[in-house]
Amino acid sequence: MTTAAKLPSTESSVRSRSFDTGFDVERIRGDFPILARDIRGKKLVYLDNAATSQKPRVVLDAVSRYYEQENANIHRGVHFLSELATSEHDRARQSVKSFINAADAREIIFVRGTTEAINLVAQTYGRANVGAGDEVLVTAMEHHSNIVPWQLLCEEKGAKLRVAPINDAGELILDDFAKLLTSRTKLVAVAHVSNALGTVNPISEIIQLAHQKNIPVLVDGAQAVPHMKVDVQALDADFYTLSSHKMFGPMGIGVLYGKAQLLEAMPPYQGGGDMISSVTFEKTTYNKLPFKFEAGTPDVAGAIGFGAAIEYLNAIGIENIAKYEHELLTYGTEKLGSIEGVRLIGTAKERAGVISFVIEGVHPHDVGTILDQEGIAIRTGHHCAQPIMDRFGIPATARASFAFYNTKEEVDALANGIQKVREVFA
Ligand code: ALA
Repeated sequence: MTTAAKLPSTESSVRSRSFDTGFDVERIRGDFPILARDIRGKKLVYLDNAATSQKPRVVLDAVSRYYEQENANIHRGVHFLSELATSEHDRARQSVKSFINAADAREIIFVRGTTEAINLVAQTYGRANVGAGDEVLVTAMEHHSNIVPWQLLCEEKGAKLRVAPINDAGELILDDFAKLLTSRTKLVAVAHVSNALGTVNPISEIIQLAHQKNIPVLVDGAQAVPHMKVDVQALDADFYTLSSHKMFGPMGIGVLYGKAQLLEAMPPYQGGGDMISSVTFEKTTYNKLPFKFEAGTPDVAGAIGFGAAIEYLNAIGIENIAKYEHELLTYGTEKLGSIEGVRLIGTAKERAGVISFVIEGVHPHDVGTILDQEGIAIRTGHHCAQPIMDRFGIPATARASFAFYNTKEEVDALANGIQKVREVFA
């Protein structure tokens, strides 16, 4: 595993002091081919990692190697390539299992991503366990993918979606959350890290509070797993969802983790090949976990690429990543927060990966457009979290989101870009 290949010469202009974490960001950047490219004649400054992360060479190679040398369908053939593809696919599942410390690989269900994982739980666990008059509890900082599937379920069942409020810093108000846990609550669904604000929720406490009342908890971990160590057993999460493309792996693949006894009891999600044990026109019996929830030909290349991304993260060390990013985020928050006219949206004590902001008198889309002219990629808009925008009384924010390959120099470039925006609109 080459986690820190020699820097290509084009990278010399982005050489960066690492913080005193001993984290060698210069060498790591050399593993990501896209970071060496120019945008509009300027060096790319990629700060849209919460939308999707860039891919290291080892991931690109794993995907092309699969299609060039190993391509076959899995679980079906006795031939060499099918066996190879099957074992590589299994290995990827084992990598995910270890990465989040699941008790068993059967608890790792490959899906398209976090959105599909949440819909799966809503349509199987939810339909089987939520009835008229029941409640599903979410928070005011959820992504649409952790709101709409529950709304669909509640509409169908005559149940109610309840929303735990957040304070002006963008933190969950834990007392109010606890009060909303009642005998009617059938499930809690909560983000580990907010995609729009970067708030890190106190997931352990949330799960403990819910479990005191025997309420299971689904954690949307899409924005957490790229930034911090997640241990689903230590958290005692009932369901945990993640997306490969935010973890330096391919798009179109992700994972639903679920405790085996919950998954065993749930009805299947989609019907088709591989999810069955036997089929007659009179009766079908279902396959064992995880295959019961994996109908049809899966994204084998995606899983293999995802496995390579996880091995890459392991080689760097998620704790090293967390430490480095913490310093980067602190630096960025101080730098941007001190620019006149800039208001940070989301100032929680615990944050990861994201700085959301507005500039007085400038629409966030104009901020994004001017920064783009400087080669700086950020996301602007409501970030698929419109209720948060409503909570703060704004239509949109500009959002810079970080990965471990970003540097202080890139934060400085962003700050300079923001100054340019202010000059244009002065
Ligand atoms: N959920 C992704 C984001 O926050 C797409 O940008």
